[in-house]
Amino acid sequence: TEETLVLIKPDGVARGLTGAILARIEAKGYSLVDIRLVEPDRDVLERHYAEHEGKPFYEPLLDFMMSGPSVAIRVAGNRVIEGFRSLAGITDPTTAAPGTIRGDLGRDWGLRVQQNLVHGSDSVESAARELDIWF
Ligand code: GTP
Ligand code: MG
Repeated sequence: TEETLVLIKPDGVARGLTGAILARIEAKGYSLVDIRLVEPDRDVLERHYAEHEGKPFYEPLLDFMMSGPSVAIRVAGNRVIEGFRSLAGITDPTTAAPGTIRGDLGRDWGLRVQQNLVHGSDSVESAARELDIWF
């Protein structure tokens, strides 16, 4: 079995979608191993989003991620890294497929950063690195 880091980002928490998103993760058969409400400081976010430093959306992304609490979840299951990315849908909520978290629940606010409700680790290496940052 495998573990991944899922974040319910500030837009998801603020819109009251925490329960709906957790229900989708559980309904898929994945296990919630640990969960916490966090208000990350800039240092945590710089480490988490190191791969995006210098990109045009980087500073707006960090500001967005500091705009309110997120829920960090350690999720376990067979192929959960790939599986949660599939549940989440692609990055852009406008074109994410219906049936996915972002496709069904994500809204395009027309801002400089995609407020796309969730984050999921994208590889075994990312998952280990990110779980260490948030837990
Ligand atoms: P995460 O699961 O959050 O990592 O999403 P992702 O893997 O689908 O996207 P990626 O890691 O490439 O980018 C991280 C976050 O930066 C995204 O979830 C968006 O919030 C934001 N982002 C990524 N690419 C763009 C972009 O081209 N434009 C804007 N405005 N925001 C972006
Ligand atoms: Mg990513």
